[in-house]
Amino acid sequence: MLPIAEKGKKPLLSLSQKIDTKCTDLIKKKRVSGKSGEQAIFYPDNEKFEAVYLFGIGALKEFSAQKARSTAASLYHDAEDHNFASVALAIPAVKEKEQKAVLRAVVDGFLSASYRFDSYKGTKEQEKKKQPVKKLTIVLAGLSGSKLKELKITMSLQQKICCGVFAARDLANTPSSDLTPPLLADKAVEMCKKEGIKVSVFDKKKIKSMNMGCLSAVGRGSSSEPRLIIMEHGKEFKNEKNDTVAIVGKGITFDSGGISLKPGAGMDEMKMDMSGAAAVFGIMQTIAQIGLKRHVIGIITSAENMPSGAAYKPGDILTARNGKTIEVLNTDAEGRLILSDALCYAAEQKPKVIIDLATLTGACLVALGTTVAALISNNDTLVKEMKEASKSSGEQLWQLPSYDEFREQIKSDIADLKNVGGRNAGTITAGLFLEEFVDDTPWAHIDIAGTAMQPKPTPLCSTKGSGFGVKLVVEYLQRKA
Ligand code: BES
Ligand code: MN
Ligand code: ZN
Repeated sequence: MLPIAEKGKKPLLSLSQKIDTKCTDLIKKKRVSGKSGEQAIFYPDNEKFEAVYLFGIGALKEFSAQKARSTAASLYHDAEDHNFASVALAIPAVKEKEQKAVLRAVVDGFLSASYRFDSYKGTKEQEKKKQPVKKLTIVLAGLSGSKLKELKITMSLQQKICCGVFAARDLANTPSSDLTPPLLADKAVEMCKKEGIKVSVFDKKKIKSMNMGCLSAVGRGSSSEPRLIIMEHGKEFKNEKNDTVAIVGKGITFDSGGISLKPGAGMDEMKMDMSGAAAVFGIMQTIAQIGLKRHVIGIITSAENMPSGAAYKPGDILTARNGKTIEVLNTDAEGRLILSDALCYAAEQKPKVIIDLATLTGACLVALGTTVAALISNNDTLVKEMKEASKSSGEQLWQLPSYDEFREQIKSDIADLKNVGGRNAGTITAGLFLEEFVDDTPWAHIDIAGTAMQPKPTPLCSTKGSGFGVKLVVEYLQRKA
């Protein structure tokens, strides 16, 4: 697969005299140009390559990592359509300092596009499906020695990150009856054992005995018990500087709304209400695989939010692990409840930073749509670092304000807090609710309600579950390592 830049008279890389001539000929005849999205294919005789696939990338000046990612994703689909089992993809030469970012984006785009979730399809359907591209070779001109080695490491790193994203997508796409909190815990234990991560799981009894009144209450309505999963990577890197990071994920394996039942339309999507937990799972797997030299605690708080005779009810007053009391006005605002206990636990570990990921509010979808996640934080340095990580990972973030006047909305008349803050600024009030449980620890909340669940397939993600957050947080952790 060979790139041509806009107004280019030949491809950006020369493979052989004969291929060059054929390409120039096709460009001259206007069969293909360097305009973004244009492509042509020919089958040369007696060459190393069975087929040569020319593709336009637009103006070379405007070629960026972002562009490289989406181009690589559509190239994957083209390759699959053509039944190519093995692809050599040439990358345009860019400025030295952008080279790594572009290479990473290409690997990211190509691999992300290859993800499928078809284990629930029958064998007949499985046979019909297109064959995946099995091998990708990257062709980059003028590399040697240490630079080449460095870029090879970059590639394998990105490959591991994509595996983490796929793990998160698999979990999000799995039906809730096959992924209850206990089953999610089993999967986490299995992954942690494999990757050498320390793991412990708290069951219903233990959760209760640890004064986690909110997680207990939310889990009470379901016949599947709640779980709190604690994963720990790189304790040996815990140092005097103490730069431990705790990552907390919302793991509602199904959100029916509970007694404040949700309407039926679209309720199936609520099997993905554990996407924050899935991201934490994927992040832990990735950092273990890349051997990140950093102490990271991953915490998954998991319950199934169901109505039943045993379920918690509007009007109930719950006590979180830090002693704060919460008046429940809507059992569908359950995410902030199960997160409250987990955030208390995280803060007690005295980390330098807490990051939480949660499909927390429908209001986030209304505000930012499905391609940008909301960021709420109590620390400006952390905001800056998260924004930088967002830029290089390609996972977009936008900070929402956390001014004090919003806090009025979650004050209760009879308890310390109430679990809903009204229609206005719903994503902000949910975030500020969480802040009540992190002590003074620098904390960043990422609402992934819009980004974790894609409304329709895109070149980068063929399924609803996107695995959003894995790339972003791994990038953040790597930068600090
Ligand atoms: N899991 C939902 C939020 C959500 C909605 C995620 C749509 C993805 C898509 C959350 O538990 C919820 O139900 N939030 C309520 C809160 C409200 C009752 C204050 C919401 O946003 O409507
Ligand atoms: Mn809910
Ligand atoms: Zn929810």
